[in-house]
Amino acid sequence: MNSTCIFALMNFLDEKISAYAEDHTTEESKALHELNRETNAKVLNPRMLSGHLQGRVLSMISHMIKPRLVLEIGTYTGYSAICLSEGLMEGGMIHTIDINDELGEIVKKHITAASVSHKIKTYTGNALDIIPTISETFDLVFIDADKINYSNYYDLVFNKLKQEGFILADNVLWSGKVLEDRTKMDPDTLAIDDFNKKVMGDKRVENVILPIRDGLMLVRKK
Ligand SMILES: C[S@@+](CC[C@H](N)C(=O)[O-])C[C@H]1O[C@@H](n2cnc3c(N)ncnc32)[C@H](O)[C@@H]1O
Repeated sequence: MNSTCIFALMNFLDEKISAYAEDHTTEESKALHELNRETNAKVLNPRMLSGHLQGRVLSMISHMIKPRLVLEIGTYTGYSAICLSEGLMEGGMIHTIDINDELGEIVKKHITAASVSHKIKTYTGNALDIIPTISETFDLVFIDADKINYSNYYDLVFNKLKQEGFILADNVLWSGKVLEDRTKMDPDTLAIDDFNKKVMGDKRVENVILPIRDGLMLVRKK
């Protein structure tokens, strides 16, 4: 497990408001609920999993875009890949990459239980090496791996993203640490802040940060 991915999520919202939002959000499927449960019981750093509310946001975005091809950087146990697969157009596909070779069995088991294994192609290895070997053009890219490489992933995927395609990036508020003085930021926080500023300064895109969970950046390639 890459230690730079270990983080503690801060709750931005009042706990009662968060609970209300979850209570008034469509439930996760049985298959996702079981994956959530097993990840929490058996896998290191289960807070990395997107979870109920963000999972429903990813599913909703996917239904709105109806992508043919999605690239996900950071599979973990497959929760977000399953959510994103829900809105794929007929015949669509998720390509998802993770460096951790110990997660393969749990991912396989749960994408099979969710009946979406034919829609999800998994890659094991460093995304920095794997992305250049994929020659597809994507409608949607979800960046959710090591924070230090967010800007590198953005640069690597930009030309693989179709015009009017979207990039989503998770954890862009980094438990609120992006508000710290830049001279005092740790390397991951600096990398996230650099990424946010890079997107903000990129005239080729429009972007918005949704302050849900740990912050989700939405980017549209103009
Ligand atoms: C936050 S988790 C992903 C969570 C998942 N998207 C979800 O929502 O359920 C980050 C994942 O990125 C993976 N990762 C870290 N560095 C990576 C790299 N250089 N290449 C590919 N995957 C990497 C980690 O092994 C970890 O499983």
